[in-house]
Amino acid sequence: MNTSVNLKVAPALNATVVPISLGDRSYPIYIGENLIANPLTWQGLQKAAYALVVTNVTIAPLFAQQLKSALQPMFERVEVLSLPDGEEHKTFETLNLIFDQLLGDGADRKTTLFALGGGVIGDMTGFAAACYMRGVPFVQVATTLLAQVDSSVGGKTAINHPLGKNMIGAFYQPELVICDLNTLQTLPKRELSAGLAEIIKYGPIADMSFMGWIEEHLDALMAKDPKALAYAVKRSCEIKAGVVGADEREAGVRAILNFGHTFGHAIEAGLGFGVWLHGEAVGCGMVMAAHLSQQLGLVEHSFVERLTTLISRAGLPVVGPKLGADVYLEHMRVDKKAQNGQIRFVLIDQPGHAVLKGAEDNVVGRVIEQCCL
Ligand code: NAD
Ligand code: GLY
Repeated sequence: MNTSVNLKVAPALNATVVPISLGDRSYPIYIGENLIANPLTWQGLQKAAYALVVTNVTIAPLFAQQLKSALQPMFERVEVLSLPDGEEHKTFETLNLIFDQLLGDGADRKTTLFALGGGVIGDMTGFAAACYMRGVPFVQVATTLLAQVDSSVGGKTAINHPLGKNMIGAFYQPELVICDLNTLQTLPKRELSAGLAEIIKYGPIADMSFMGWIEEHLDALMAKDPKALAYAVKRSCEIKAGVVGADEREAGVRAILNFGHTFGHAIEAGLGFGVWLHGEAVGCGMVMAAHLSQQLGLVEHSFVERLTTLISRAGLPVVGPKLGADVYLEHMRVDKKAQNGQIRFVLIDQPGHAVLKGAEDNVVGRVIEQCCL
């Protein structure tokens, strides 16, 4: 466990703790209410002269001041940098604004970065932390459902390149992940659905009883019921913790967390980043990957139908944009799982279990034509 984070404060915070076990890079995820504003949350971090809260123009007015005040006992100076909002700003130019601020403020190696936001801010800030002076500590303060159940956990950091999603990045673990469930109350409906896509993902790849629980509690989740959200975040983090603990740098099993992402990334890049939300593209991508699994004889049609129904009920698109099979295939060949130009898909070989597999272009093309209108 990361020695700089004091686990003893978790009971006082009334927080659930999910540990990420990675030897000397281990850290806890705290899940609970009112965590950001509570100075106790931050007590175990290493004290330093300077902390930078990186956030965006939408999130800053909601939570930046409370975070800044709560951090003040630990850091002599706390600054807030508000970046533009949106996936289309997950770029080298925006990343450089973080370095401009750090260098302009004379930030040293003990500086801690706080990523206050969703996956876009988390991925960019984590990458900035990995690069600045060859690595400074950072903390994920996840404010979207998607970030709380997926992107803030596991140390994948990146920016997009016009030719490919998340293509420039690093594996770099945070010191601590904070999932303050209260932040979800201001989340727009469309963003909540995007987060549900990554929660649903954990069912087919790892735990069908969790999928059953989601089916039963979907209305409560969509109504932002605090108890349902708390369980969904906890169970998702537990599943992700198990996978990341077994394969931190995606040499093998971690690839299963990309179920739906190969088709999804092609949708995002093909339409232009920011047109469909990442979670929407993943939701639809899971439908396409399930169809491909069926085409290859791995699962029954009833499973494809069950998954499609759940994704649709979660307010996510289940029909892909008609970009043409060639455009999909071209983008999918840039996927990080591709080897020698051969696309490898995360497919379901039995409900609750995923495999990494190639498929003939004509079979993939048929699935694309079938799933896109
Ligand atoms: P996002 O970061 O763009 O946030 C979604 C929107 O919600 C933004 O407009 C944001 O300003 C707003 N917002 C955030 N918190 C809010 C709140 N509490 N109240 C109101 N509005 C709020 O999108 P996201 O879905 O969180 O993340 C998507 C990104 O995450 C993608 O870039 C994707 O590639 C990345 N991702 C990374 C990993 C990983 O392992 N690193 C995993 C999954 C996704
Ligand atoms: N979201 C995929 C991963 O963390 O590996």
